[in-house]
Amino acid sequence: MQALKIALTKGRLEQKSVALFEKAGYDCENLKNPGRKLLLEAPYRDETAASLVAVLAKAPDVITYVERGVCDLGIVGKDTIMEHGTSFYEVLDLGFGRCRFALASLPETDFDRPSYKPRVIGTKYPNVTRQYFAKRGEEVDIVKIEGSVELAPILGLADGIVDIVETGTTLKENGLVIKKEVAPVSARLIVNLVSMKMKKREILGFIEQIQRTLAE
Ligand code: PRP
Repeated sequence: MQALKIALTKGRLEQKSVALFEKAGYDCENLKNPGRKLLLEAPYRDETAASLVAVLAKAPDVITYVERGVCDLGIVGKDTIMEHGTSFYEVLDLGFGRCRFALASLPETDFDRPSYKPRVIGTKYPNVTRQYFAKRGEEVDIVKIEGSVELAPILGLADGIVDIVETGTTLKENGLVIKKEVAPVSARLIVNLVSMKMKKREILGFIEQIQRTLAE
């Protein structure tokens, strides 16, 4: 059986992904203590399933590696898929990494009142923001921000932000409130289009195994 190369999103989703693999029967010693290593083997406990070789990467790079076929599989948030993703199979909602996209602002900003000039929206997710306001039929001026997006309305750079909200603490501590829910987000398992054909047995076996583990 051929090994499966899987790209994992570093950070928030990493631990939960590793815990899932461990529960599914993979030896995750390397993954739990990666040090500075970026390519890590996670053998299966017996011969009945393909071993994994995990790659730790930033979320948009997980998508790049899977789309380009240098990784067979990937675990990445729906937020990154909505912003960057196009050609791969999204096969499973893994149920962890739950949060949501929301439109937030200072309490006094009213997005339901028509505005005589396009509103300015700060975000790390310009495509998600563009699509959301296009659906509302509203023209907006999008400013790309790389992090701590909450600063944009506070500094007077933007009328609102479209960002990930998990606990709501960051918004609250900065005096911002949710004005509209945009989309729910959670971690997804994605598969390269060609790998799905070339390593069909291994990949379908892996998906089934993960599904079974999630249902336990
Ligand atoms: C994300 C997001 C919010 C925060 C939301 O930022 O952009 O700032 O988490 O989480 P909360 O609702 O639980 O407070 P991240 O920590 O990824 O850092 P960044 O802003 O520097 O991108």
